[in-house]
Amino acid sequence: MKNKMVILGLLVVMGCACLIPLKVGPPRDIAVEITPERLTRGEYLAKHVTRCVYCHSGLDWNYYAGGLPKPGTEGGGGWHETVNEGLIGSYDLYFPNITPAAIGNWTDGELIRAMTEGVSKDGKPLFPIMPYERFRIMDKEDVYSIVVYIRSLDPISNTYPKKKVKRLFKFIERSVPKPWEPQTQLDPSNSVAYGKYLSTIGDCVACHSTMTNTAQFIEGMDFAGGNEYIIPNGGIVRSANITPDLETGIGNRSKDNFIGLFKAFQEPIQLPEDSKHGNTVMAWTAFAGMTVEDLGAIYDYLRTVKPVKNRVEKYPGDEVSNE
Ligand code: HEC
Ligand code: HEC
Repeated sequence: MKNKMVILGLLVVMGCACLIPLKVGPPRDIAVEITPERLTRGEYLAKHVTRCVYCHSGLDWNYYAGGLPKPGTEGGGGWHETVNEGLIGSYDLYFPNITPAAIGNWTDGELIRAMTEGVSKDGKPLFPIMPYERFRIMDKEDVYSIVVYIRSLDPISNTYPKKKVKRLFKFIERSVPKPWEPQTQLDPSNSVAYGKYLSTIGDCVACHSTMTNTAQFIEGMDFAGGNEYIIPNGGIVRSANITPDLETGIGNRSKDNFIGLFKAFQEPIQLPEDSKHGNTVMAWTAFAGMTVEDLGAIYDYLRTVKPVKNRVEKYPGDEVSNE
């Protein structure tokens, strides 16, 4: 009996991901009104907090953190990520073009569904590299603002090959989408709560909380770091422990020092030509444009998380770049 269950389970996982019900319904019937306030707020969020523009543009890995997309190339897509875990599965995908040339014929409801629930216009699930799991709690007004901004991007006509997602990854892809559950708008003067919101939609929480190799959070390891990321121009980098632990986290950093860390990357920094090491996937260049108040709120929130002792070697096996 047990064996039969295992075989059935394997079948579902290996071949029949389509049997897993998608938990997301049809797109909402929404027409978002364009206002100057929404355009400003949407641009700020998409460029500096939620990283829409950072991920959905071609970056240059001769620069630290990939630099910033050149004006006019924003939203045109271009990152390519391919992972092959053998029998477990594989995926190969290009980060798509989200300028009006690509999604101009989507309704606002379809765009909102993709962003907050993880289902594309064609009703198929999006691969969860797209952080819709985090955007799922995004406040309605913030979501509408991003819609207004994304629609204002210069149209770019880039197209990319279709994604290929196989085996377990197909199963994961189908199980992650869930309905949008917007939080009510938070008061930025409540800095701890607002900082928590920003560190959710900024995805700090996913990159910096220690995970298993199938992307499950490990209890008690919130913001304790150590996840490995492939840098597009070569090498591996591990996320930092950003809990308030004094020895292995950021407990020693003052608020000014923390804000200064980000503000140091406002101008993209070109790496020396022979430098193959010491780069990062942390969107420093994008986050650098966050306001001092918002970075301060994230700092205030991070002071409240449990300190965890977890020493992370940033660049495994690379003594030079760990300095
Ligand atoms: C960490 C990188 C990353 C960030 C940040 C990100 N995306 Fe994505 N996005 C992706 C990837 C990868 C896909 C493709 C997923 C797939 O093909 O299954 C995607 C898909 C999409 C799609 C569907 C496009 C299509 O043709 O199906 C839309 C719309 C979209 N993203 C909008 C946004 C918006 C708006 C934001 C910011 C609120 C955002 N994305 C932030 C990586 C990202
Ligand atoms: C794509 C994954 C990713 C995301 C998203 C991300 N980080 Fe990071 N972060 C990293 C990695 C990897 C490092 C280590 C390499 C480096 O310093 O860039 C790092 C380093 C840091 C450091 C430096 C710690 C130290 O003392 O050296 C801080 C602070 C930090 N991140 C805060 C944040 C905050 C706040 C957010 C959200 C606004 C965030 N990160 C989002 C991957 C990420």
